[in-house]
Amino acid sequence: MLKAVILIGGPQKGTRFRPLSFEVPKPLFPVAGVPMLQHHIEACAKVPNMKEILLIGFYQPNEELTRFLCNAQQEFKISIRYLQEYSALGTGGGIYHFRDQIVSGSPEAFFVLNADVCSAFPLAEMLSFQKEHGEPNSFVILGTTSNRKQSMNYGCIVEKRGNKRGLALCGKAKHKNQQDMLLEEPTNGWHRAEAIRLEQDIFTALAGQGKLYVYKTLGFWSQIKSAGSAIYASRLYLNQYHTTHTERLASNKEGGPKISGNVYIHPTANIDPTATLGPNVSIGTGVTIGAGVRVRESIILHGATLQDHCCVLNSIVGWDSTIGKWARVEGTPSDPNPNDPYAKIDSETLFRDGKLTPSITILGCNVTIPSEVIILNSIVLPHKDLNRGFKNQIIL
Ligand code: GTP
Repeated sequence: MLKAVILIGGPQKGTRFRPLSFEVPKPLFPVAGVPMLQHHIEACAKVPNMKEILLIGFYQPNEELTRFLCNAQQEFKISIRYLQEYSALGTGGGIYHFRDQIVSGSPEAFFVLNADVCSAFPLAEMLSFQKEHGEPNSFVILGTTSNRKQSMNYGCIVEKRGNKRGLALCGKAKHKNQQDMLLEEPTNGWHRAEAIRLEQDIFTALAGQGKLYVYKTLGFWSQIKSAGSAIYASRLYLNQYHTTHTERLASNKEGGPKISGNVYIHPTANIDPTATLGPNVSIGTGVTIGAGVRVRESIILHGATLQDHCCVLNSIVGWDSTIGKWARVEGTPSDPNPNDPYAKIDSETLFRDGKLTPSITILGCNVTIPSEVIILNSIVLPHKDLNRGFKNQIIL
């Protein structure tokens, strides 16, 4: 039998996801219409002989997480448990702390997934790869090709091709240095002797012993660090729905809105037939969309209202927010270079050269945008009732 561990982090993580992570733990943020974590759970549940999924994190178990776990257990008919670390133990510390629970029942193998990535998660393929190429007690890491700039920024896996395919050497040099600096910072949560980092402390050692193999995927893989990358991840998953979940893709129907490209609409949303949606749009529960509205490359969260003729581009509209008539809410996408096949989305810092980096527009929950104004490249914190337009600002 098999098991899977999903690392979900905790409340101090997901800072680049604010203000959206104030309302919902980042792993539960909807990407292509379903909570980010559900994509991982679906991928795990599809692997034959998968018996249990363990989520490891340091969130206090809250109602939302518990409800998600109950629903997912019922839907996927698999045991899913949440194991809470007493504090941030690092990406390897939780696995070590809960090792008895992971190995109980003697699984023949277990998968470890990061909650904040989106991918087609080729788990069955990795398992066959391991059976074919790996030695007993060896490990397989999923690899994706990145470009030179990214490998300089984050470090990379160097594949050693010999008579055995895929023997890997892991170098996360720059990243390691950054983490080491963090370790020196006494106020930081990382300053714990128990913290173990999978990438630096474990994989590097395993690679040195020749026990780490790399399975390179040609499928999609992207990190979900910032809110902008959630829109990009939605695009990747919506595209995947053509082969995995066609029922989640909206189509042009008599009496329905005009759909252009890949769009997810929750069945409870109320959409005027003269609205035009897509490509890459996800509409949550109970959303109301008025006449002549245009939405493109955006995520509209539950309970939001888009009044007649407003336009929403490259934005995330928070829960229960309202956009007035003829208003325009627009952001700047941070998509990877389309001419570079190996480019990955960069998690831009909020500020560059003392200025707010142009990014997607985010409206926190319960924000009201008046009629006939423009909100451009701005982040609006929750519960704001704006009375004019804003450009390149964080509205506190
Ligand atoms: P950054 O880009 O610096 O964030 O590094 P990274 O891409 O390697 O990500 P990171 O190592 O921070 O996290 C990978 C995954 O592990 C994410 O899903 C995190 O939420 C999760 N994670 C990070 N730290 C911890 C931890 O202390 N405990 C648990 N359980 N999960 C963690």
